[in-house]
Amino acid sequence: MATSLEPTADLGLFDAVVNLCKRRGFVFPSAEIYGGIRSTYDYGPLGALMLRNIREAWWRAMIQERDDVVPIDAAILTNPKVWEASGHLATFTDPLVDCRTCKERWRADQIEGTCPNCGSADLTEGRPFNLMFKTFVGPVEEDSSIAYLRPETAQGMFVNYLNVETTTRRKPPFGIAQIGRAFRNEITPGNFVFRTREFELMELEFFVPPADSPRWQQYWCEERLAWYVRYGIASEKLRLRPHDPEELSHYSSGTTDVEFLFPWGWGELEGIANRTDFDLRAHQEHSGTSLEHFDQATGERYLPHVVEPAAGATRAMMAFLLAAYDEDEIGGERRVVLRLHPRIAPYQVAVLPLSKKDTLSPLAREVLHRVQRHLMCEYDETQSIGRRYRRQDETGTPYCVTVDFESLEDQQVTVRERDSTEQTRLPIDEVVSYLLGRLDV
Ligand code: GAP
Repeated sequence: MATSLEPTADLGLFDAVVNLCKRRGFVFPSAEIYGGIRSTYDYGPLGALMLRNIREAWWRAMIQERDDVVPIDAAILTNPKVWEASGHLATFTDPLVDCRTCKERWRADQIEGTCPNCGSADLTEGRPFNLMFKTFVGPVEEDSSIAYLRPETAQGMFVNYLNVETTTRRKPPFGIAQIGRAFRNEITPGNFVFRTREFELMELEFFVPPADSPRWQQYWCEERLAWYVRYGIASEKLRLRPHDPEELSHYSSGTTDVEFLFPWGWGELEGIANRTDFDLRAHQEHSGTSLEHFDQATGERYLPHVVEPAAGATRAMMAFLLAAYDEDEIGGERRVVLRLHPRIAPYQVAVLPLSKKDTLSPLAREVLHRVQRHLMCEYDETQSIGRRYRRQDETGTPYCVTVDFESLEDQQVTVRERDSTEQTRLPIDEVVSYLLGRLDV
């Protein structure tokens, strides 16, 4: 979970992206009208669309384009014995220190002996602080009704291992994948949506014969690195970094992170862990249910080992935005442009009638209806066409379709591409196939 905090010169980029997110409605401070709540965010219209696209891009690569992974959608609140067995109750902790001078609290492993707020060295001894949020199920707040908000989605896959294996007639190697909210009572959330107490995880638990786990871990490291490149992050801004032994989570025999070069230095986007049979063994022991796989070919029984690529969707969104942000000049005018991959951009298409005049609206709306059956479209008829192109560039819309007065005569429209600003005149009948053909650049 550690983040290296090497200083870099590009904190201006961070500010520009955070400003853009607030100004254009990607991300809002949560419950802003009540003063917000520290480091908690609501995703606005553009953020909700972009997050959905990130989930879909992950789903496409991890489930749809494979024949060895199936999805599940497990409960957030579950039997607390799950967290006892998984080791999260005992060991999912960060070392907490208090500053006796200003009363701020810090993670001991993220500061160097002095309080970052007031500089005092008068700090308490580090003590383990459990990151799980506790709540009560039912009307009575007593020990027997304690439950926890899940700090990872992974356990939903482990406790359902048998159900999935049996109902889908799978055998290792195969995977179970899930996307969902996770909750951690982080001591020091921060850096915008990089570290928050509620976030979204996209996790795959890939079950393999024990001897094969090193090979599969290598495979998943390469696959996951390639996924970020496929969706638009330059490979120079990505790296794989194996964990030092003292960094490893309690369940891992070896983890490699996919890291992104954030404006403050390299930071984790995703961890690819070899969880061995730690979780299945723990649940087998605690539940008394055998979770062994029976290999009919060899007559062997074994607990599969697990390779787990675990990515944060909300953190990935921040990386995609930072990687895409650019400023250039078009016709002597400065523009901000998000060079997002078409499948990640909130809207894929903007339909823009050249003028607000009633004569153009019916045809423009007809084009809109045709395209929005396939792609997420925004319709905008306010202000000059130049201003509207800039607004779309700033939120990453890869294509603008402009309906002008000639369109009424020749049934053609102009498609403008965001990065090159090149314009192509096309028959309306061909617009959908033209745009669909350009989604996977
Ligand atoms: N099941 C394994 C697991 O949860 P993790 O490294 O703790 O592993 C996986 O988390 C990913 O989730 C991280 O690489 C990061 O992208 C994201 N993540 C973790 N904590 C987060 C937080 N507090 N806020 C936002 N994203 C977080």
